Amino acid sequence: MNLKVNIAGVELSNPIITASGTFGFGREYGEMYSLDELGAICVKGLTLAPRAGNPPPRITETYGGILNSVGLQNPGVDMFIKNEIPELKKYTCKIIANIAGNTIEDYCEMAERLSGSGVDMLEMNISCPNVKEGGVAFGTNAKTILHITQEVKKHAKIPVIVKLSPNVTDITEMAKAAEAGGADALSLINTLLGMAIDIKTRRPILANITGGLSGPAVKPVAVRMVYQVAQCTKLPIIGMGGITNGDDAVEFMLAGSNAVAVGTANFMNPYACVSIKKGIVDYMNQYHIKDVNDLVGQVVIK
Ligand code: FUM
Repeated sequence: MNLKVNIAGVELSNPIITASGTFGFGREYGEMYSLDELGAICVKGLTLAPRAGNPPPRITETYGGILNSVGLQNPGVDMFIKNEIPELKKYTCKIIANIAGNTIEDYCEMAERLSGSGVDMLEMNISCPNVKEGGVAFGTNAKTILHITQEVKKHAKIPVIVKLSPNVTDITEMAKAAEAGGADALSLINTLLGMAIDIKTRRPILANITGGLSGPAVKPVAVRMVYQVAQCTKLPIIGMGGITNGDDAVEFMLAGSNAVAVGTANFMNPYACVSIKKGIVDYMNQYHIKDVNDLVGQVVIK
Protein backbone atom coordinates (compact mmCIF):
# COMPACT_ATOMS: atom_id res chain seq x y z
CA MET A 1 0.00 0.00 0.00
CA ASN A 2 1.39 3.45 -0.89
CA LEU A 3 0.66 6.35 1.44
CA LYS A 4 3.30 8.71 0.06
CA VAL A 5 2.12 11.95 -1.48
CA ASN A 6 4.01 14.67 -3.30
CA ILE A 7 3.25 18.34 -2.69
CA ALA A 8 5.13 20.66 -5.05
CA GLY A 9 8.10 18.31 -5.28
CA VAL A 10 8.26 17.59 -1.54
CA GLU A 11 7.57 13.94 -0.71
CA LEU A 12 5.54 13.27 2.43
CA SER A 13 5.49 9.75 3.91
CA ASN A 14 1.70 10.04 4.20
CA PRO A 15 -1.01 12.69 3.57
CA ILE A 16 -1.46 13.78 7.21
CA ILE A 17 -0.31 17.31 8.07
CA THR A 18 -0.96 19.18 11.29
CA ALA A 19 -2.87 22.42 10.72
CA SER A 20 -1.05 25.57 11.78
CA GLY A 21 -1.96 26.83 15.23
CA THR A 22 -3.23 23.54 16.57
CA PHE A 23 0.05 21.74 17.16
CA GLY A 24 2.43 24.45 18.38
CA PHE A 25 5.91 23.43 17.24
CA GLY A 26 5.21 19.77 17.93
CA ARG A 27 7.01 19.55 21.29
CA GLU A 28 4.02 18.60 23.47
CA TYR A 29 2.56 16.13 20.96
CA GLY A 30 6.04 14.65 20.47
CA GLU A 31 5.87 13.49 24.09
CA MET A 32 2.78 11.43 23.22
CA TYR A 33 3.76 9.79 19.93
CA SER A 34 6.61 9.83 17.45
CA LEU A 35 6.16 12.72 15.03
CA ASP A 36 7.55 10.34 12.38
CA GLU A 37 3.90 9.24 12.11
CA LEU A 38 3.09 12.51 10.33
CA GLY A 39 3.57 13.49 6.71
CA ALA A 40 4.36 17.05 7.79
CA ILE A 41 4.03 19.48 10.65
CA CYS A 42 2.75 22.94 9.82
CA VAL A 43 3.85 25.08 12.74
CA LYS A 44 2.07 27.95 14.51
CA GLY A 45 1.95 31.10 12.41
CA LEU A 46 5.23 33.01 12.58
CA THR A 47 5.82 36.73 12.37
CA LEU A 48 9.07 38.70 12.05
CA ALA A 49 8.92 39.94 15.65
CA PRO A 50 7.55 37.96 18.61
CA ARG A 51 3.85 38.54 19.34
CA ALA A 52 1.96 38.13 22.62
CA GLY A 53 -1.34 37.61 20.79
CA ASN A 54 -4.76 38.96 21.70
CA PRO A 55 -6.01 39.43 25.27
CA PRO A 56 -8.06 36.57 26.82
CA PRO A 57 -10.63 35.10 26.57
CA ARG A 58 -9.46 34.09 23.12
CA ILE A 59 -10.97 30.65 22.62
CA THR A 60 -14.46 29.26 23.24
CA GLU A 61 -16.35 26.11 22.33
CA THR A 62 -19.27 26.29 19.92
CA TYR A 63 -21.58 23.61 18.48
CA GLY A 64 -19.30 21.21 16.66
CA GLY A 65 -16.24 23.39 16.90
CA ILE A 66 -14.34 26.24 18.48
CA LEU A 67 -14.05 29.96 17.96
CA ASN A 68 -10.53 31.34 18.42
CA SER A 69 -8.94 34.73 18.38
CA VAL A 70 -5.39 33.91 19.41
CA GLY A 71 -3.92 36.77 17.42
CA LEU A 72 -0.83 34.99 16.12
CA GLN A 73 1.00 34.55 19.42
CA ASN A 74 4.46 33.28 18.52
CA PRO A 75 8.14 33.72 19.49
CA GLY A 76 9.16 35.31 16.17
CA VAL A 77 10.85 33.76 13.19
CA ASP A 78 14.44 33.95 14.48
CA MET A 79 13.63 32.14 17.76
CA PHE A 80 11.80 29.51 15.72
CA ILE A 81 14.84 28.97 13.50
CA LYS A 82 17.18 28.81 16.50
CA ASN A 83 15.15 26.76 19.00
CA GLU A 84 12.49 24.79 17.15
CA ILE A 85 13.94 23.69 13.82
CA PRO A 86 16.74 21.60 15.45
CA GLU A 87 14.07 19.74 17.48
CA LEU A 88 11.81 19.19 14.48
CA LYS A 89 14.76 17.95 12.42
CA LYS A 90 15.00 14.90 14.72
CA TYR A 91 11.94 13.53 12.93
CA THR A 92 11.37 12.32 9.37
CA CYS A 93 8.22 14.40 8.86
CA LYS A 94 8.52 17.49 6.68
CA ILE A 95 8.37 20.98 8.18
CA ILE A 96 6.04 23.68 6.90
CA ALA A 97 6.49 27.20 8.27
CA ASN A 98 3.28 29.23 8.33
CA ILE A 99 4.18 32.91 7.86
CA ALA A 100 2.10 36.01 8.53
CA GLY A 101 2.89 39.70 8.44
CA ASN A 102 1.65 43.27 8.61
CA THR A 103 3.19 44.16 5.27
CA ILE A 104 4.22 42.41 2.07
CA GLU A 105 7.83 43.18 3.01
CA ASP A 106 7.35 41.17 6.25
CA TYR A 107 6.37 38.10 4.25
CA CYS A 108 9.31 38.55 1.86
CA GLU A 109 11.80 38.96 4.71
CA MET A 110 10.53 35.81 6.41
CA ALA A 111 10.67 33.89 3.14
CA GLU A 112 14.35 34.90 2.86
CA ARG A 113 15.19 33.92 6.43
CA LEU A 114 13.35 30.60 6.31
CA SER A 115 14.72 29.48 2.94
CA GLY A 116 17.77 27.41 3.78
CA SER A 117 16.84 27.15 7.47
CA GLY A 118 15.83 23.50 7.19
CA VAL A 119 12.15 24.17 6.60
CA ASP A 120 10.73 22.27 3.60
CA MET A 121 7.89 24.57 2.58
CA LEU A 122 6.32 27.90 3.42
CA GLU A 123 2.62 28.41 3.99
CA MET A 124 1.62 32.04 3.36
CA ASN A 125 -1.02 32.91 5.94
CA ILE A 126 -3.07 35.56 4.21
CA SER A 127 -6.22 34.37 5.91
CA CYS A 128 -5.90 34.93 9.69
CA PRO A 129 -9.11 36.76 10.68
CA ASN A 130 -7.82 37.84 14.11
CA VAL A 131 -5.28 40.59 13.48
CA LYS A 132 -5.80 44.28 12.76
CA GLU A 133 -3.13 44.54 10.06
CA GLY A 134 -2.26 42.01 7.38
CA GLY A 135 -3.80 38.55 7.78
CA VAL A 136 -7.11 38.15 6.04
CA ALA A 137 -6.86 41.68 4.63
CA PHE A 138 -4.38 40.26 2.10
CA GLY A 139 -6.46 37.18 1.38
CA THR A 140 -9.83 38.54 0.36
CA ASN A 141 -8.87 40.46 -2.76
CA ALA A 142 -7.69 38.60 -5.86
CA LYS A 143 -5.36 41.39 -7.05
CA THR A 144 -3.66 41.56 -3.65
CA ILE A 145 -3.25 37.77 -3.57
CA LEU A 146 -1.63 37.85 -7.01
CA HIS A 147 0.75 40.62 -5.99
CA ILE A 148 1.80 39.27 -2.59
CA THR A 149 2.34 35.78 -4.03
CA GLN A 150 4.51 37.16 -6.83
CA GLU A 151 6.59 39.14 -4.33
CA VAL A 152 7.08 36.26 -1.88
CA LYS A 153 8.03 33.94 -4.73
CA LYS A 154 10.91 36.28 -5.59
CA HIS A 155 12.40 35.62 -2.14
CA ALA A 156 11.45 32.01 -1.40
CA LYS A 157 13.84 29.27 -2.42
CA ILE A 158 11.46 26.56 -1.22
CA PRO A 159 7.89 25.79 -2.36
CA VAL A 160 5.22 28.29 -1.35
CA ILE A 161 1.74 27.18 -0.29
CA VAL A 162 -0.93 29.91 -0.22
CA LYS A 163 -3.50 29.39 2.58
CA LEU A 164 -6.89 30.63 1.42
CA SER A 165 -9.62 32.26 3.46
CA PRO A 166 -13.22 31.02 3.24
CA ASN A 167 -14.41 34.56 4.06
CA VAL A 168 -14.83 35.48 0.41
CA THR A 169 -17.62 35.46 -2.14
CA ASP A 170 -15.84 33.23 -4.66
CA ILE A 171 -12.89 31.14 -3.48
CA THR A 172 -12.04 30.07 -7.03
CA GLU A 173 -11.07 33.66 -7.90
CA MET A 174 -8.63 33.67 -4.97
CA ALA A 175 -7.21 30.27 -5.93
CA LYS A 176 -6.69 31.35 -9.53
CA ALA A 177 -4.98 34.56 -8.38
CA ALA A 178 -2.57 32.58 -6.18
CA GLU A 179 -1.82 30.22 -9.07
CA ALA A 180 -1.21 33.17 -11.43
CA GLY A 181 1.13 34.66 -8.82
CA GLY A 182 3.28 31.53 -8.88
CA ALA A 183 2.03 29.60 -5.84
CA ASP A 184 3.30 26.03 -5.73
CA ALA A 185 0.34 24.67 -3.76
CA LEU A 186 -2.83 25.80 -2.01
CA SER A 187 -4.20 25.04 1.43
CA LEU A 188 -7.80 25.62 2.44
CA ILE A 189 -9.75 26.51 4.41
CA ASN A 190 -8.65 28.80 7.20
CA THR A 191 -11.33 29.63 9.77
CA LEU A 192 -14.72 31.21 9.12
CA LEU A 193 -15.25 34.56 10.81
CA GLY A 194 -17.73 34.12 13.68
CA MET A 195 -18.97 35.58 16.96
CA ALA A 196 -20.47 34.29 20.21
CA ILE A 197 -22.32 36.33 22.88
CA ASP A 198 -22.77 35.48 26.57
CA ILE A 199 -26.48 36.16 27.06
CA LYS A 200 -26.08 36.66 30.82
CA THR A 201 -23.54 39.47 30.55
CA ARG A 202 -24.62 40.44 27.01
CA ARG A 203 -20.96 40.73 26.13
CA PRO A 204 -19.05 38.98 23.33
CA ILE A 205 -17.36 35.87 24.75
CA LEU A 206 -14.06 36.63 23.01
CA ALA A 207 -12.21 39.76 24.09
CA ASN A 208 -11.53 40.47 20.42
CA ILE A 209 -15.34 40.31 19.78
CA THR A 210 -15.00 38.09 16.70
CA GLY A 211 -12.93 34.98 16.04
CA GLY A 212 -12.32 32.17 13.58
CA LEU A 213 -14.62 29.14 13.59
CA SER A 214 -13.10 25.69 13.05
CA GLY A 215 -13.98 22.07 13.74
CA PRO A 216 -16.58 19.63 12.38
CA ALA A 217 -19.17 22.43 12.02
CA VAL A 218 -17.22 23.90 9.07
CA LYS A 219 -16.49 20.62 7.26
CA PRO A 220 -19.19 20.77 4.55
CA VAL A 221 -18.14 24.34 3.68
CA ALA A 222 -14.52 23.24 3.43
CA VAL A 223 -15.28 20.17 1.31
CA ARG A 224 -17.32 22.33 -1.06
CA MET A 225 -14.50 24.86 -1.39
CA VAL A 226 -11.84 22.18 -1.96
CA TYR A 227 -14.04 20.67 -4.65
CA GLN A 228 -14.53 24.03 -6.37
CA VAL A 229 -10.83 24.92 -6.18
CA ALA A 230 -9.79 21.51 -7.51
CA GLN A 231 -11.93 22.18 -10.59
CA CYS A 232 -10.22 25.46 -11.40
CA THR A 233 -6.49 25.01 -10.67
CA LYS A 234 -3.77 22.49 -11.40
CA LEU A 235 -2.03 23.13 -8.08
CA PRO A 236 -1.74 20.49 -5.36
CA ILE A 237 -4.26 21.08 -2.58
CA ILE A 238 -3.96 20.58 1.16
CA GLY A 239 -7.56 20.31 2.36
CA MET A 240 -8.66 21.07 5.90
CA GLY A 241 -11.67 22.06 7.94
CA GLY A 242 -13.11 19.82 10.62
CA ILE A 243 -11.30 16.59 9.75
CA THR A 244 -11.84 14.33 12.76
CA ASN A 245 -11.59 10.76 11.48
CA GLY A 246 -10.33 8.74 8.53
CA ASP A 247 -13.63 8.99 6.67
CA ASP A 248 -13.44 12.81 6.81
CA ALA A 249 -9.92 12.69 5.38
CA VAL A 250 -11.03 10.39 2.55
CA GLU A 251 -13.93 12.76 1.81
CA PHE A 252 -11.49 15.67 1.40
CA MET A 253 -9.27 13.58 -0.89
CA LEU A 254 -12.24 12.57 -3.05
CA ALA A 255 -13.11 16.28 -3.31
CA GLY A 256 -9.62 16.98 -4.67
CA SER A 257 -7.15 17.25 -1.76
CA ASN A 258 -3.71 15.74 -2.32
CA ALA A 259 -3.05 15.88 1.41
CA VAL A 260 -5.12 16.80 4.45
CA ALA A 261 -4.46 18.95 7.50
CA VAL A 262 -5.84 18.11 10.92
CA GLY A 263 -6.53 21.02 13.25
CA THR A 264 -9.21 21.28 15.93
CA ALA A 265 -9.36 17.47 16.27
CA ASN A 266 -5.90 17.63 17.92
CA PHE A 267 -7.50 19.52 20.83
CA MET A 268 -10.22 16.89 21.28
CA ASN A 269 -7.88 13.92 20.94
CA PRO A 270 -4.11 14.43 20.97
CA TYR A 271 -3.72 11.18 19.01
CA ALA A 272 -6.15 12.33 16.30
CA CYS A 273 -3.55 12.44 13.51
CA VAL A 274 -2.47 8.86 14.20
CA SER A 275 -6.02 7.52 14.25
CA ILE A 276 -6.98 9.50 11.11
CA LYS A 277 -4.01 7.94 9.29
CA LYS A 278 -5.16 4.50 10.40
CA GLY A 279 -8.71 5.33 9.26
CA ILE A 280 -7.41 6.12 5.75
CA VAL A 281 -5.56 2.78 5.68
CA ASP A 282 -8.70 0.94 6.83
CA TYR A 283 -10.72 2.57 4.03
CA MET A 284 -8.06 1.65 1.48
CA ASN A 285 -8.08 -1.96 2.68
CA GLN A 286 -11.86 -2.11 2.56
CA TYR A 287 -12.01 -0.77 -1.01
CA HIS A 288 -8.82 -2.51 -2.25
CA ILE A 289 -7.01 0.76 -2.98
CA LYS A 290 -3.25 0.35 -3.26
CA ASP A 291 -2.21 3.98 -3.68
CA VAL A 292 -3.67 6.83 -1.61
CA ASN A 293 -3.17 9.17 -4.58
CA ASP A 294 -5.84 7.18 -6.44
CA LEU A 295 -8.44 8.79 -4.16
CA VAL A 296 -7.66 12.36 -5.20
CA GLY A 297 -10.54 14.05 -7.02
CA GLN A 298 -12.44 10.79 -7.45
CA VAL A 299 -15.82 12.11 -6.34
CA VAL A 300 -18.36 10.82 -8.86
CA ILE A 301 -20.51 13.60 -10.34
CA LYS A 302 -23.18 12.47 -12.76
O1 FUM B 1 -5.46 34.13 15.76
C1 FUM B 1 -4.70 33.31 15.29
O2 FUM B 1 -3.56 33.14 15.74
C2 FUM B 1 -5.17 32.53 14.14
C3 FUM B 1 -4.47 32.42 13.04
C4 FUM B 1 -5.08 31.89 11.80
O3 FUM B 1 -6.27 31.57 11.79
O4 FUM B 1 -4.41 31.83 10.79
